[in-house]
Amino acid sequence: MKVAPSILTANFTNLAQEIKSVEKGSDYIHVDIMDGHFVPNISFGPAIAGQISEVTDVLLDIHLMVDYPLLWIDKVNFKTTEFITVHAESNRYAESIKRIKYLGKKAGLCIKPSTPVDIIMPYLNQLDLVLVMGVEPGYGGQMFIQSQLDKIKMLADLKKEHGYTYEIEVDGGINATTAKQCAEAGATIVVAGTYIFNFENREERINTLK
Ligand code: DX5
Ligand code: ZN
Repeated sequence: MKVAPSILTANFTNLAQEIKSVEKGSDYIHVDIMDGHFVPNISFGPAIAGQISEVTDVLLDIHLMVDYPLLWIDKVNFKTTEFITVHAESNRYAESIKRIKYLGKKAGLCIKPSTPVDIIMPYLNQLDLVLVMGVEPGYGGQMFIQSQLDKIKMLADLKKEHGYTYEIEVDGGINATTAKQCAEAGATIVVAGTYIFNFENREERINTLK
């Protein structure tokens, strides 16, 4: 299992050190960008995301929780950006996927807990990553919604059946128990905020998830 610590739950007064503390064992750093409209919260914008990209060599996994991703994609196109993920509930997401690919980055599409896999079916062959939310997006520290496991299974079956190559990533409510359930369902990357950052020995937590 690949692990992407979500920087949203880090201590922002001490960000460089917080990033350093999760570098060992991490496959990506998950970077949540919010616009205050798509979700009822604001995290940080591209400027801080850019600074994050400068203090670590770990590749960035950027999650855009915004109404108009086309306005944001170019602003988070850093040298170390690996994935840019947009939501299937946002505006012009199909064009957004094209734009991400045009920039030479890997494209992800995310579905909220109430969005069925059917909606994104036509795009699966173009995607490098499908992000399944384990909670309502916007805040860390929520409980994993168990019904999302069926979506992970469905995406894993479709991947096998059609030979698709996307990663299946799960974000929200991840801990040792839910990560195991996600792995069994076919997930390949888990994002974890609270589980990693609310614990002193972060390396140990990352290894547990792996
Ligand atoms: C939620 C964010 C997540 C969040 C996960 O909207 O997309 O990345 O930080 O936090 P935990 O792991 O605490 O659920
Ligand atoms: Zn996220």
